[in-house]
Amino acid sequence: MSQTAGSFSLGTRPVKRLGYGAMQLAGPGVFGPPRDRAAAITVLREAVAHGVDHIDTSDFYGPHVTNQLIREALAPYPDDLVIVTKIGARRGSDASWLPAFSPEELTRAVEDNLRNLGVDVLEVVNLRLMFDVHAPAEGSLEAPLTVLAELQRQGKVRHVGLSHVTPTQIAEGRRLCEIVCVQNQYNLTHRSDDALIDSLAEAGIAYVPFFPLGGFTPLQSSTLSEVAQGLGATPMQVALAWLLQRAPNILPIPGTSSVAHLRENLAAADLVLPPEALRALDGIGATG
Ligand SMILES: NC(=O)c1ccc[n+]([C@@H]2O[C@H](COP(=O)([O-])OP(=O)(O)OC[C@H]3O[C@@H](n4cnc5c(N)ncnc54)[C@H](OP(=O)(O)O)[C@@H]3O)[C@@H](O)[C@H]2O)c1
Repeated sequence: MSQTAGSFSLGTRPVKRLGYGAMQLAGPGVFGPPRDRAAAITVLREAVAHGVDHIDTSDFYGPHVTNQLIREALAPYPDDLVIVTKIGARRGSDASWLPAFSPEELTRAVEDNLRNLGVDVLEVVNLRLMFDVHAPAEGSLEAPLTVLAELQRQGKVRHVGLSHVTPTQIAEGRRLCEIVCVQNQYNLTHRSDDALIDSLAEAGIAYVPFFPLGGFTPLQSSTLSEVAQGLGATPMQVALAWLLQRAPNILPIPGTSSVAHLRENLAAADLVLPPEALRALDGIGATG
């Protein structure tokens, strides 16, 4: 991957702007083992071989499966690799996503991540709020964040981030401990965090958009397709390039289980969108 898109600090570590999200490596519904374990391992190794130095994961992907794949594929880890994980949820036996915010559950989640990734300290841990599974919803994060901050004091966690949060919760969090990143849903067609991204950029806090390609429902837009065609790129590359140009603190983590898609996505770091393409793409968010 080229350096055209530059880098940004995640905690105390510089990472390239374009990272990789490992969620798609678990089985269907992010539950159980992958259909093709060898292929999942290959995707992870290819990502790092192509310069990815920021991988997003969680021990509740699988559960445990994704972290175990990362360890098998990449340990001993390259010095420059930053693995970011998240805690705050657990999986039901029916693959459901359930809140897991008691001190015991949060502590166990950190221990599970340490063990399954095979590391002594977790570089960045996001507290993923679950007041509403599908959209950020208000509610105090003081109790769970205090537990995470204590785990940080114990040296098990280097840096703390927040996920699926509102501006009010980020402000509350920043009063309790240093917050180095925010991970919320954001892409060309889902832009509720526009103002938040700009305020985080001013504060030097990384914004990591999840579902950068639309997630389980990949982005579809005739404007996006037309712009991509005009530039000789794919719609997914244009969607990622738009995120990279939207603000300097945006660190997209596109997910894929395919080496071909991985290569396609990483090439977006080189794609510079001209002003007229940016104008057309900006209009998508306005109209849906
Ligand atoms: N904090 C949170 O609550 C939260 C929630 C969801 C996700 N995340 C994180 O965000 C990361 C990214 O989210 P995501 O993976 O769900 O969504 P995404 O990156 O928006 O999209 C992934 C989907 O797009 C497909 N895809 C990827 N590259 C493609 C390409 N070049 N052409 C066509 N299709 C392509 C993938 O299928 P293929 O496998 O076939 O390529 C997959 O179905 C996850 O890996 C996870 O780490 C965090």
